[in-house]
Amino acid sequence: MKPGFEISKDIYWVGKIDDREVPFHRLLLTKGTTYNSYLLKTGKPTVIDTVDMEFGREFAEHITGLIDPLDIQYIVINHTEPDHSGGLAALAARAVNATIVCTEVAVPEIQQMYKLQHRSYLVVKDGDTLDIGGKTLLFKETPYLHTEETMITYCLEDKILFPCDIFSTHVAVNSLFADEAGFDVTEDFIGYYKAIIHPHRRYVRTLIEAVKDLDIQMIAPSHGYILRHNINNFISLYADMSTETTEDKKVAIVYTTLKNNTKKIANMLKDTFEHNQISVELWDIDKANEQDVLNSIAAADAVWIGSSTKYADMTGKLESLLKQLADMNLEGKLAAAFGSYGWSGEAIEVVQDYLNATNMDVQSTSNVIKTTGMTHVEFPVRVRFAPNDEVKVQKIKHAANFVSDLLLSAI
Ligand code: FEO
Repeated sequence: MKPGFEISKDIYWVGKIDDREVPFHRLLLTKGTTYNSYLLKTGKPTVIDTVDMEFGREFAEHITGLIDPLDIQYIVINHTEPDHSGGLAALAARAVNATIVCTEVAVPEIQQMYKLQHRSYLVVKDGDTLDIGGKTLLFKETPYLHTEETMITYCLEDKILFPCDIFSTHVAVNSLFADEAGFDVTEDFIGYYKAIIHPHRRYVRTLIEAVKDLDIQMIAPSHGYILRHNINNFISLYADMSTETTEDKKVAIVYTTLKNNTKKIANMLKDTFEHNQISVELWDIDKANEQDVLNSIAAADAVWIGSSTKYADMTGKLESLLKQLADMNLEGKLAAAFGSYGWSGEAIEVVQDYLNATNMDVQSTSNVIKTTGMTHVEFPVRVRFAPNDEVKVQKIKHAANFVSDLLLSAI
């Protein structure tokens, strides 16, 4: 497939097929992948997304063969991850008249990543449209699909959705269109969803709402096959796979508190889980019967244990309980530590150590980043002094929502 293939009137594929085994997010893409970029040769020529940075120069040269880059008016960056924005530096160096179109969150990222501090930017918000001379682009913000700055673009006249990572497949395509692949691409479509999108499925539900009123005749994603048949079936697959299990799930939250701040965190965790339809048993270990708490932990799907810190250690009767967990079979349960602290918060780390000595799946910031790329979810949940401002509240809610999503995954 050569760059310059027309997928719709005046809309050309200008991407790169990468048929190597590609390492990506701790996965090995054994079928390779495709970086799709699109050139819209309208009255105000526009490029939507670019390619991986490794192919940036080649990409810019191909575009130069199709249009004078000085004529390009807009470069739309739906998502700043370098497999899509990586060709921007090479393209922007030639397309010096082009304005970069992206979300507000994306601007400083692009400026820093590609040293494009002095370029012209058009910041778009959810529902904004842009006249590109004969075609109109509509933008919808889709944060956390796949990262915070992400948006999708829809061409009103051609009824084409350009959703970047969403609705993609990691395949070095033999044909751009799924219906010409010679096999059913559904398995690759589902495999991509599970590997890349599913951890973010809380936001897929927002996406489904965002696209439900659009008349979509073609989905032109930024990896793999372009979809033009059975569009609603592919969207329904995302809707189905992102729904939650209806099985009852239970969380046990156990805490010891010095000045009620750790208790407040425990209650905020409880409220978030209950908001997500997950039942909670909440225990102040210094007031409860220890055996009742152990029974609650044994029956729970996730266990949260929190402590205030006093003189660099845990408070109350918590250690007696923690010592017994290593001897219990808690396999299959999720676990997380939390607490309020004033100076260094050593107790929270000690709780984490005890949890790591069990056979539970203990949540850590490191694992969240490695498995999902999310940087707004932190474990253990450490809150200095009272959980009394929005940043602290969001930290607690993000962590509880993350565990909720793991518990409620239907696939
Ligand atoms: Fe295909 Fe989030 O990158």
